[in-house]
Amino acid sequence: MEKKVDFLVIGTGLGGLSFALKVAEYGKVCIITKTKLEETNTSYAQGGIAAVTYAPDNYEKHVQDTLIAGDGLNNEEVVRMVVSEAPSQIETLINWGTQFDREATGKYDLAKEGGHSEHRILHHKDQTGAEIQRALSERARNHKNIEILENHFAVEIITQHHLGRLVKRYNTDIECFGAYVLDLKTGKTIKILSKITLLATGGAGNLYQTTTNPNIATGDGVAMVYRAKGIISDMEFVQFHPTSLYNPTDKPSFLITEAMRGFGGILKNQNGNDLMQKYDPRGSLAPRDIVARAIDNEMKITGHEFVYLDCRHLDQKGLIAHFPFIIEKCKKIGIDVFTEMIPVVPAAHFMCGGILTDKNGKSWINKLYAVGETACTGLHGANRLASNSLLEAIVYAERAARHSLSIIDEISIQEGVPEWNEEGTAHPEEMILITQNYKEVQQIMTNYVGIVRSELRLERAARRLEIIFQETEELYKKSSLSKELCELRNLIHVGYLVIKSAQARKESCGLHFMLDHPGRIRK
Ligand code: SIN
Repeated sequence: MEKKVDFLVIGTGLGGLSFALKVAEYGKVCIITKTKLEETNTSYAQGGIAAVTYAPDNYEKHVQDTLIAGDGLNNEEVVRMVVSEAPSQIETLINWGTQFDREATGKYDLAKEGGHSEHRILHHKDQTGAEIQRALSERARNHKNIEILENHFAVEIITQHHLGRLVKRYNTDIECFGAYVLDLKTGKTIKILSKITLLATGGAGNLYQTTTNPNIATGDGVAMVYRAKGIISDMEFVQFHPTSLYNPTDKPSFLITEAMRGFGGILKNQNGNDLMQKYDPRGSLAPRDIVARAIDNEMKITGHEFVYLDCRHLDQKGLIAHFPFIIEKCKKIGIDVFTEMIPVVPAAHFMCGGILTDKNGKSWINKLYAVGETACTGLHGANRLASNSLLEAIVYAERAARHSLSIIDEISIQEGVPEWNEEGTAHPEEMILITQNYKEVQQIMTNYVGIVRSELRLERAARRLEIIFQETEELYKKSSLSKELCELRNLIHVGYLVIKSAQARKESCGLHFMLDHPGRIRK
């Protein structure tokens, strides 16, 4: 079966939906998602979206905060561009119906998070992502030019390599014509041909045993582009959020937003002492890499499984107004945040690396764009500043929309693309072959490629992952397609990229900390 559209959008978080809404005025859009429209990383974002709104804040402060958090590995031009384009994109979100909290005076109520020198986080209580997702999903569902295919899994992007001949206008010899997509209801793989394809497939938190990401976050976009020989960059920089709720049965781990520390919450060890004092003068609001590493160190030294976030001294009315979702969740598991400390632990949260894109969100494959967490734009450098991720998604969705509209008239749908060639037909009758390998990947990454790394651990991880890779490729060749098998394969490919990038960087910077190379090569 074949479908032809102007724009194919893979992924339905902020990046995918805002791109779709922008280009839908000019052509036919098909959006696919492997589960439901609303099941995205965006929906789980609590804190908010960073943007300069009122004095005394200004662009320069936001730029400097982003560069400091990124340990100087950011692309400064990109940082300046994103920061200065933030307010107009926030305006668009508001026009699309997103509600950000306001003070009694009518001014926006701006929160503060780690690494920010000013209050600049626009938020909707502690469920900002869910509010943005609500507003955009509603609009997308009602747009006549947008077709939404839920339960459709992108297996591979369709590409052609021109054997060293550069495609006119583009510095690449690879072209994208759409994607092969598995309809999870019928089990059939269909061909969706498009003039422009956008990947907005989110992160890969499920590489690790503990993550704040929903279980859909399996690095699908990065893995597809890697297999198609596009360029992937900065994969060693995996961000662990310092504070997820310690409640081992929760999957995903429940996030305790950094805005709670911005509101005055203090990280404490089991003896009730301020934990961050001996690590960083910025205390509980130091950038995330520093706080996560400090907690990891504290847990390793003491043998404890968590530390605490203390909010008992904070204004109760303020807490209720800003964090109702967190208070409710804690209450459900028997913690009263007004009288008890919250047990917290770091969890894999955000992939700073990804599909390398230019300033228009264009990847190194012609006619293929990538936005949001799946992309590597240069904004984050070695560590993402809190609440810069939703911002990056919306700014790049706008840029990718503008750029693709400027070239779409020159593009025609490719004819003669073959149907998906299903190599294997056997059903993997033993699901345990997939689930066991999935768990092993998570164990390897957690134990050897986590917050603190070493040459020995990385080498061991590479050897073990290779075995799982071989087993999974064999299974893939003889089995009919399933979402579970494809996701496992994607995670293995992304895990491989994280390990190889980590091995290549012989220094410690930002999120990449190596015991053998504790210093920076370049400052
Ligand atoms: C948070 O609310 O702490 C998460 C926001 C982010 O990851 O930027």
